[in-house]
Amino acid sequence: MATLEIRDLHVTVEAENATKEILKGVDLTVKQGETHAIMGPNGSGKSTLAYSLAGHPKYTVTGGTVTLDGEDVLAMSVDERARAGLFLAMQYPVEVPGVSVSNFLRSSATAIRGEAPKLRTWVKEVKEAMAQLQIDPAFAERNVNEGFSGGEKKRHEILQLELLKPQIAILDETDSGLDVDALRVVSEGVNRVRESGAVGTLLITHYTRILRYIKPDYVHVFASGRIAESGGAELADKLEDEGYEAYVKGGVSA
Ligand SMILES: Nc1ncnc2c1ncn2[C@@H]1O[C@H](COP(=O)(O)OP(=O)(O)O)[C@@H](O)[C@H]1O
Ligand SMILES: [Mg+2]
Repeated sequence: MATLEIRDLHVTVEAENATKEILKGVDLTVKQGETHAIMGPNGSGKSTLAYSLAGHPKYTVTGGTVTLDGEDVLAMSVDERARAGLFLAMQYPVEVPGVSVSNFLRSSATAIRGEAPKLRTWVKEVKEAMAQLQIDPAFAERNVNEGFSGGEKKRHEILQLELLKPQIAILDETDSGLDVDALRVVSEGVNRVRESGAVGTLLITHYTRILRYIKPDYVHVFASGRIAESGGAELADKLEDEGYEAYVKGGVSA
């Protein structure tokens, strides 16, 4: 069972010629098979956590540790993290001009599996996954994220998730910009991957509505760069009713 362990993680970012500490001691353990929701107000550092785990160069880790099955994630390159089984679906996915979805998926799968997937089974796999996510087959020939609508970007992220089968999936605001139908299709995709039992999921979200479709085992409230409270699914209901006000008082400018 793969385990992602985050201990006392501190992260800074360069902003307007000043170094700003965004993450101020994050502690979190995610095991394969578990779903953790991270919820919190805008600007609390949720995406910073996701980017830091992915190894984005803009974010500097100044303290703490991140391990996957005891291996030091922070010492790994971005590629090595992916090969070790970490997957990140970003809040704002980037365009990859000149690279088709089809080529992108195949080279990602090749990198992660350590060998090129057999063409016959691969084509079938991709077709099935696309059909389940209600993605038009013509989509495969488009350049990654170029001119994609918000919904298309999110479906493409979940398509990657289904095909790459990571050990730990970090999904940053996968629900943002989705209408109810797209939210359902995307959530079903995440649930299919979860039901395989082999993935640990870190679901980052500002709103509780995606949690109607994807039931978390644990809910964490993120405020001012750290986890302020942890609980079960019922904590999300409390947040739905009461909002984040209790957590941000006096801390919002920190
Ligand atoms: N690349 C960056 N450059 C400058 N400031 C950043 C950068 N990334 C994040 N921040 C700042 O860090 C804080 C947390 O942002 P973020 O992690 O995006 O929060 P959330 O995802 O919870 O809304 C914000 O004040 C934001 O302006
Ligand atoms: Mg964010």
